[in-house]
Amino acid sequence: MTSTIRPADESGVCGGACEPIRGTATGAPRGSLRRPAAMSGNLDVSGLVDSDGGLLDRAIFTDESLYQQELRRVFAPSWLFLAHADQFHKPGDFFTTYMGEDPVIVTLDKNRRIRAFLNSCRHRGARVCRADFGATRNFTCTYHGWAYDLEGKLISIPNKEGYPDSFDAKQWGLIEVPHVESYHGLIFGTWHPEPVSLRESLGDMAWYMDAMLDHDEQGTVVVGGVHKWVLSGNWKLAAEQFATDWYHVNMSHASALMLLSPSAKPKDEIIHRTGRQYVDPNGHGAGFPVHPKNRFDARTVHEWMDYGALRERLGDARVEGPMTTGHATVFPNFSYLPINGSVRVWHPKGPDTMEVWAWTIVDKSMPEEVREAQRLYNLRTFGPSGIFEQDDGENWSEVQAISHGFITNGVPLNYQMGLGSEREDGRHPGRTSELYSDAAGRSFYARWRELMNTPAWHEESR
Ligand code: FES
Ligand SMILES: [Fe+2]
Repeated sequence: MTSTIRPADESGVCGGACEPIRGTATGAPRGSLRRPAAMSGNLDVSGLVDSDGGLLDRAIFTDESLYQQELRRVFAPSWLFLAHADQFHKPGDFFTTYMGEDPVIVTLDKNRRIRAFLNSCRHRGARVCRADFGATRNFTCTYHGWAYDLEGKLISIPNKEGYPDSFDAKQWGLIEVPHVESYHGLIFGTWHPEPVSLRESLGDMAWYMDAMLDHDEQGTVVVGGVHKWVLSGNWKLAAEQFATDWYHVNMSHASALMLLSPSAKPKDEIIHRTGRQYVDPNGHGAGFPVHPKNRFDARTVHEWMDYGALRERLGDARVEGPMTTGHATVFPNFSYLPINGSVRVWHPKGPDTMEVWAWTIVDKSMPEEVREAQRLYNLRTFGPSGIFEQDDGENWSEVQAISHGFITNGVPLNYQMGLGSEREDGRHPGRTSELYSDAAGRSFYARWRELMNTPAWHEESR
């Protein structure tokens, strides 16, 4: 495959992609401001992702201009995970996070509606909320004192009489994320003004997510706080692995597996372990071993689970598959591990760095001691210093550390395991591949390529 990055206007693929970014992408008035087209020059990435052949060009992990294009064309139009509904109980409860690199405040308004706003003051751009989470009656910028209510309206301006009569406070409220929806307690938002619904974008992936989120009528709650840590490595390395990579488990985590079960022979498992990998056309993915007698690893959790009731609610295929052991990614950057109740976002921080934000969620119906057992199990295995999490972070950082070498960067990566193996297996919805396969990874990058080559709504010409 070729590794040439071509400007979109040379290939013709991106059509109007080289038009200036529309000033009204967020609805904010721009007066006579115009951005030169060169600031948003988009690249045709067709030559960088060969999904049919299972090859990837490493430039997609290192190139700064591709990274900027990702923020415009992958993150801005996609549904992105914001928070868990359990983080908001009273009007004014808020949590601050990011959509791509855009800071946002998620809050419950007076009508108990979850809303999300760009966390940037309309005056000179400072964050109007610098706390990670909390409760407030309004958001007051600490730079000059502009204040906004829970609906994002500008309600107070020091020295208002100093502004011209034409100044209209209604035009200067916080920029609102236009669509916020939730699925079984997971709240997502998108900047796309006319998106497909969150449920539609999840498609069959929802069936796999329910295996963790829908054990009973009460749903899930968050235990503990949000763990945050910074890793060297492109965000896609982590998102891709959680979509498609059970292959690394027995090698990368060999010492951790032997510690947990001394009689295990990790290398043998690679041949004998059976399971499936779900391959979603929208780039999501999930992999899970299949055990007729599945179990949760934390003994207290295992003993509390009512497997009979779970089989009735979720069906045998889910209880014996994706309910416990496994991994999953909702495209682009939300991932989870059912056995730990770990949900996480891989926040992009430039091509070479990601920031991991991880929550532990448990069934609301769990008694306190069971919640605590699950929290501790997650902390020991997939907390920031967990025995598995450290193995994974080390791999991503290792891959990234050498990828800027001129020769290294031009050597393609292999995603050929299980080529052509996807099929309807009659037991799990959608198409699945073998447990050990790169099929969901190929689909993840096919979706990435599609979005990277498609002008987003904000690029429509005036
Ligand atoms: S930057 Fe917020 S009030 Fe000036
Ligand atoms: Fe891992």
